[in-house]
Amino acid sequence: MLMATLYSLHIFAVMVWIGGMFFAHTALRPTAATVLQPPERLQLLAGVFTRFFIWVKVSIVLLFVSGLWLIHIHGSFAKAGWHVHLMFLIAVIMTIIFGVIYAVPFKALKAAVAAKQWPAGGAAMAKLRRLVGINLILGLFVMVIGVSGRFL
Ligand code: HEM
Repeated sequence: MLMATLYSLHIFAVMVWIGGMFFAHTALRPTAATVLQPPERLQLLAGVFTRFFIWVKVSIVLLFVSGLWLIHIHGSFAKAGWHVHLMFLIAVIMTIIFGVIYAVPFKALKAAVAAKQWPAGGAAMAKLRRLVGINLILGLFVMVIGVSGRFL
């Protein structure tokens, strides 16, 4: 029962974080860019990311707690397969990138929206989009490693 719960929480967190980035990057932002003017678009995206990033924080905690717990149940880090080591490493890198996104372009985006500085908001959004794009690629890769690693 514990194993089932931990795996389910792990995959829930993967779904929220990677799925949310996939949706934002491939559907929401490009559509907002074509149908909304900068003031509406940047206010919408600042609001969307404010809500989404709460769930990203929850997902990161769930990923590390469930992942480390699974490693503990299976034995130890030393006994874990190469795919688990790679998963952990990439998850740490993704978490650092998220920290940068949160502290730099996201903060700048919110400040620009509050001050109605739309060019500055657009520049912050461009940086945020690039970093989310990197995290999305890393996330898709680590998801494949997580699922297929034990069979390779
Ligand atoms: C973005 C980060 C992560 C993603 C996308 C991810 C993804 C996955 C996926 C898809 C699985 C396969 C589950 C299954 O097939 O039932 C998995 C399993 C696992 N993950 Fe992660 N994971 C991430 C972070 C972590 C972290 C931080 C740890 C902790 C060190 C961790 C430890 C594990 C372990 C121990 C397993 C079980 C491996 C096995 O049964 O062979 N993961 N992960």
